[in-house]
Amino acid sequence: MSVTKSSAEAPSSGSPGPGPESGPLVDVRDVSVVFRKKRTLAAARLVRAVNDVTFHIDPGETFGLVGESGSGKSTTGRALLKLVPVESGSITVAGQDVASLRGRGLRKARRSMQMVFQDPYSSLDPSSTVAASIAEPLIVHEGLSSRAARGRVNDLVEMVGLRASYADRYPYEFSGGQRQRLAIARAIALHPRFIVCDEAVSALDVSTQNQVINLLERLRAEFRLTYLFIAHDLAIVRHISHRVGVMYLGRIVETGPAERVYGAPAHPYTQALLSAIPDPRRRTERIVLAGDLPDPARPPRGCPFQTRCSFAMDVCTERMPEHTAVEGGGEVACHLQTSGPALAGSPLNDLGSPS
Ligand SMILES: Nc1ncnc2c1ncn2[C@@H]1O[C@H](COP(=O)(O)OP(=O)(O)O)[C@@H](O)[C@H]1O
Ligand SMILES: [Mg+2]
Repeated sequence: MSVTKSSAEAPSSGSPGPGPESGPLVDVRDVSVVFRKKRTLAAARLVRAVNDVTFHIDPGETFGLVGESGSGKSTTGRALLKLVPVESGSITVAGQDVASLRGRGLRKARRSMQMVFQDPYSSLDPSSTVAASIAEPLIVHEGLSSRAARGRVNDLVEMVGLRASYADRYPYEFSGGQRQRLAIARAIALHPRFIVCDEAVSALDVSTQNQVINLLERLRAEFRLTYLFIAHDLAIVRHISHRVGVMYLGRIVETGPAERVYGAPAHPYTQALLSAIPDPRRRTERIVLAGDLPDPARPPRGCPFQTRCSFAMDVCTERMPEHTAVEGGGEVACHLQTSGPALAGSPLNDLGSPS
């Protein structure tokens, strides 16, 4: 096998050593990303796609990011790879300040951070064989001969559970799940430390989703990879994530260990998203979210979720809720925790259903 852990990354005795390895691999603090949407020549509208977002990912950890379409998940993932300009805040990946990366440093950092998208054609060229697509970064970045690159391609393709000879085929000759495996093979070709999976399994049927998730899990353990796993579907994120962040209108409204967030959600938005997952064992009623996501160019004053929240109080229309600690781990930004019923870190379930 030619993709192996470098000796520096191999865990020595279980506990991480000193230096940058001892902190989080990814550290995102108060990050905002603003897009200027030109409507007319005179007026450009500002869209705060990501608003004061803070989270971290430990080495070897999978952090799941969920929320409706348009909530800012992809933009967050792209900001980590310096693919969108960051308005304010700081992003550190493997001890490096992403904003200050330029030229060679940026190219080197991008090799260690890869992305897997929902559409595998964004990494597999439909007009080339799979072997050519996977070999390309090896030839460009590692200077391998095409012969040596092909040897590595064969290993990579086998590593994702396919036959090496399949690499001579074109992307259209594969099923969706196989194509996603091949996109993953290309993503791990340059020994990355961190991979952003942006809706990587969202287009697949449930059993194929599970297979690809198992593959990602195996690769994470084998190569000590760290994942940001983005999906609009909470059911997908649950099993792969150690911790989860829930995004709404550019903000993270709740974070916590996956078990706690799914078992005892503290934010009404998380509760509503969870209630939409079909589960015959659940006794609580499905909560239907009224209306659409507000226009991110004109977010409501106060709490971003108040226009759709069945618990909304006066304070929610006036002030942005602070992040407060939740029993069982993580944080939530909701006035229910500090005003009104003052849950003080208790799960929302303790409140009963809204009237
Ligand atoms: N390149 C862009 N230019 C302008 N607006 C954008 C751009 N990319 C995303 N947006 C806007 O930012 C918001 C968040 O988008 P996105 O991060 O793609 O959300 P998600 O991945 O959660 O669906 C949306 O309102 C979207 O329209
Ligand atoms: Mg997206």
